[in-house]
Amino acid sequence: YEIYLDGMTGAVPRLPTDLTALEEMAERRLGPGPFGYVAGSAGDGSTARANRAALERRRIVPRMLRDVAERDLSVEVLGRTLSAPLALAPVGVLSIMHPGAEPAAARAAAAQGVPFVLSSASSTPMEQVAEAMGDAERWFQLYWSKDREVTLSFLKRARAAGCSILVVTLDTPLLAWRPRDLDQAYLPFLRGVGTANHFTDPAFLAGLEKSPQDDPNAAVLRFVSLFSDPGKTWPDLAFLRENWAGPIVLKGVLHPDDARLAADAGMDGVVVSNHGGRQVAGAVAAADALPRVAAAAGDRLTVLFDSGVRTGADVFKALALGARAVLVGRPYAYGLGLDGQPGVEHVIRCLLAEFDLTLALSGHARPGTVGAGDLVEDPV
Ligand code: FNR
Repeated sequence: YEIYLDGMTGAVPRLPTDLTALEEMAERRLGPGPFGYVAGSAGDGSTARANRAALERRRIVPRMLRDVAERDLSVEVLGRTLSAPLALAPVGVLSIMHPGAEPAAARAAAAQGVPFVLSSASSTPMEQVAEAMGDAERWFQLYWSKDREVTLSFLKRARAAGCSILVVTLDTPLLAWRPRDLDQAYLPFLRGVGTANHFTDPAFLAGLEKSPQDDPNAAVLRFVSLFSDPGKTWPDLAFLRENWAGPIVLKGVLHPDDARLAADAGMDGVVVSNHGGRQVAGAVAAADALPRVAAAAGDRLTVLFDSGVRTGADVFKALALGARAVLVGRPYAYGLGLDGQPGVEHVIRCLLAEFDLTLALSGHARPGTVGAGDLVEDPV
């Protein structure tokens, strides 16, 4: 209501409430480097477009006269009660967007009561991000290193930093072919700016002959060589299961058989995601994969979703397709780039307000009652 009331007194929000317009503003105001880093996707961009199309093709069929006067947006996710079915996705190297970087985004998430997922590729060490959040809910995203000691050290630090859920990203054993990054020679990872978690890590530093101050190139090369691992297979998950006491969620699952393998490996959840279209160009749209993965997961796994969420209606559609909650990536990175912490808070508030209204206007007082019957698929 605040946005409407402000509007009646003639005050307009500093940033657009339409997050597509926000992206356009980011394109105009942020330099091509920062904007391109966030907006970019793999190959010809067709997966990123398909993510949007798959959500737009599904239409909500609202129900009437169902008493939606009192609403409760909260959902249970792996033993925690979230105030709404929304979290901020792990986005690496946020210092490219704003000097406030990860702590500013994390503070915004804490202030708005949504979980923040700390990226392995953070430009701020995880301890500092955690400190900015007080005791607000946070999860840790792992890029699963080739080096066991580094992985163990990350898990230990993430636990000590108060992260409750481990989110293991499986879709990035290698960085994909991303023309916008390549054309700009703008590979932040290779430049070493996204490596704060590594460069402050005792196990990572122990493997170096010289300190990063003495030889930044050696440190960057070591980072690149062990940042992720294309050699991993399903049995390797036992190592993470043994070394992380809390829930583990696998991010980047698109095939129903992979959901079954995840459950068999003792995992607790999956994020149906194609990394916002940044990894496999030509991959299935995440919203098209979601119902099949949710069916395979049954009640063995908690199913989360990301890739293409831009509106509160998209959140509703994802729930109807089988997700318990959604993550959002690019929109909050643009909010951060445009206005720091308040910009991220603006994005979260817009999504939550529109989700609340969509829920009510569609005939639901709680997320838990939304289901497949609330959607139809438009003929293409
Ligand atoms: C990402 N994503 C990502 N994922 C991850 O597991 N670790 C990471 O460090 C990053 N870094 C990252 C940087 C940038 C600039 C973007 C845009 C994305 C993927 C992210 O978590 C999420 O899957 C997508 O952003 C979801 O799609 P939307 O919401 O951007 O469409």
